[in-house]
Amino acid sequence: MNAYSFFREVLQKLKTKFSSGEAENITAMMFEKIAGISKTDLIKVKNLEINQPTIKQLEESVDKLFLDVPIQYILGEAWFYGNKFLVNPSVLIPRPETEELVELVLKELKSDANKSILDIGSGSGCIPITIKKKFNQAKVTSVDISEDALEIAKQNATIIGTFINFQKLDFLERENWQLLGAFDIIVSNPPYIPFSEKESLDKNVRDYEPETALFVDEPLIFYRAIADFSTTNLLKEGKIFMEVHENFSHSVSEHFVQKGFITNVLKDIYGKDRFVVAQFPKV
Ligand SMILES: C[S@@+](CC[C@H](N)C(=O)[O-])C[C@H]1O[C@@H](n2cnc3c(N)ncnc32)[C@H](O)[C@@H]1O
Repeated sequence: MNAYSFFREVLQKLKTKFSSGEAENITAMMFEKIAGISKTDLIKVKNLEINQPTIKQLEESVDKLFLDVPIQYILGEAWFYGNKFLVNPSVLIPRPETEELVELVLKELKSDANKSILDIGSGSGCIPITIKKKFNQAKVTSVDISEDALEIAKQNATIIGTFINFQKLDFLERENWQLLGAFDIIVSNPPYIPFSEKESLDKNVRDYEPETALFVDEPLIFYRAIADFSTTNLLKEGKIFMEVHENFSHSVSEHFVQKGFITNVLKDIYGKDRFVVAQFPKV
């Protein structure tokens, strides 16, 4: 079959589910990854043919999209801060807000790249790997409770060519803290959506992304643990960078203030209170 005609066919179908722009992007991504045909190839070579097994694979992917499976899980990859990360349903799909969280850490490192960093909740490894790729001198540890997530994170570190000290660890179990050292920077995008909000989430998130990565019974549970851990394991001039639920940014900030830190609440590109940065007061 002619590749360009089939591209048009897929695009028309996807436009019934997605906006025009999204449908264009998704169709192009699928053709590139599954058929090995870029948009430029399609435009340049008008008589490009596509074989039956590839058509079948593309059709199956379209069916999955109509079941709300995220395109990143269908293709097995997601982009984060200019790098391609392997993803599967055991890891959260990296979000643009988290790129902003990483940006804050990178800005901090500019003045001294030789720091020890702890990332809590590795997922795909997007946070520690991006930091280590930019600042190779940094000593980066990343912990996650999920063996399956760590498997993907380790593969990503290898593919992207970085060394991260990944550890499987339940951060909410305080006796595990003795396995970790002291850090200049603690960064985390922990699970922060209350279970009570589950039904209001989009189906593609609610039904396909890992529950352990998304939901908590108590909105501040991870932040309380991070505050207590930081009291003993954050080095004197250190800083904590956290992504937070927009509705709980001020509760998180107040909790850190109560624990003796000074804090800053920062907005994301959508104008939502999304990050809390905490540090010890200067003496
Ligand atoms: C919101 S995801 C963030 C993943 C990744 N850092 C990102 O930004 O895309 C939270 C991660 O925390 C992990 N996690 C959940 N509970 C945990 C716990 N008690 N201890 C350590 N990690 C945990 C989940 O497995 C998940 O990978």
